Amino acid sequence: MIETEEISLKPVVRLAPQIGMLPDHEFAVIWNLWDEVGGNFLEIGTSSGLTTRALAIGRSWAQVFTVDVRSPNDVHEHQRNEHPGSQLGYFSLGLSNVFHFANGFENFDVRKKGIRMVFIDGDHREESVWRDSESALALSGDGERFIIAWHDYEDNGRDDCSWLGVGPAVRRLAARYGLAIKHAKDTRIAFWRSWQHA
Ligand SMILES: C[S@@+](CC[C@H](N)C(=O)[O-])C[C@H]1O[C@@H](n2cnc3c(N)ncnc32)[C@H](O)[C@@H]1O
Repeated sequence: MIETEEISLKPVVRLAPQIGMLPDHEFAVIWNLWDEVGGNFLEIGTSSGLTTRALAIGRSWAQVFTVDVRSPNDVHEHQRNEHPGSQLGYFSLGLSNVFHFANGFENFDVRKKGIRMVFIDGDHREESVWRDSESALALSGDGERFIIAWHDYEDNGRDDCSWLGVGPAVRRLAARYGLAIKHAKDTRIAFWRSWQHA
């Protein structure tokens, strides 16, 4: 059972003209969740880098790692149009605290990067979300606070299209690992905190 929580939002400074594929209110949730843990941030699914840019400029003392794949041909057909081709990571290129990896998450060495939050917004098929989530979970567990967030989580128990596997993967993860995963109210974001939140 995935409960819904209303995240209390501190003001978010708008530093980018738009926030990529995340609507403003969802960016605000991601931003405020990150604020709970501090540390460095890992985004899976860079696209044009607008969310990456807003995160990195807003917290210039932290490092933002962002992972995508080199070409639209490497993306599942249903999501191919989300890969911006030669514009991959365009808006976050040149920022000194952003580190781009365009070779898939499996090839990204996540160890010792001080990552305290992972935002999973890459390949949305169930098995891919599952795999990315397990890799993210492997980064937690050192006693420090840790958050995993997923985008495109459908709270209605069904998914709009058969290939969109975020909901099924998240519900399966919650059951398999006994994780208290929550849905952020009025968003398509699910999230897990590694600690008991009052
Ligand atoms: C919804 S977009 C990401 C949007 C971005 N996070 C934002 O907020 O603007 C999904 C991205 O995931 C990427 N992607 C697809 N399959 C992937 C994979 N196996 N590993 C990493 N990224 C992948 C796509 O190329 C696309 O850029």
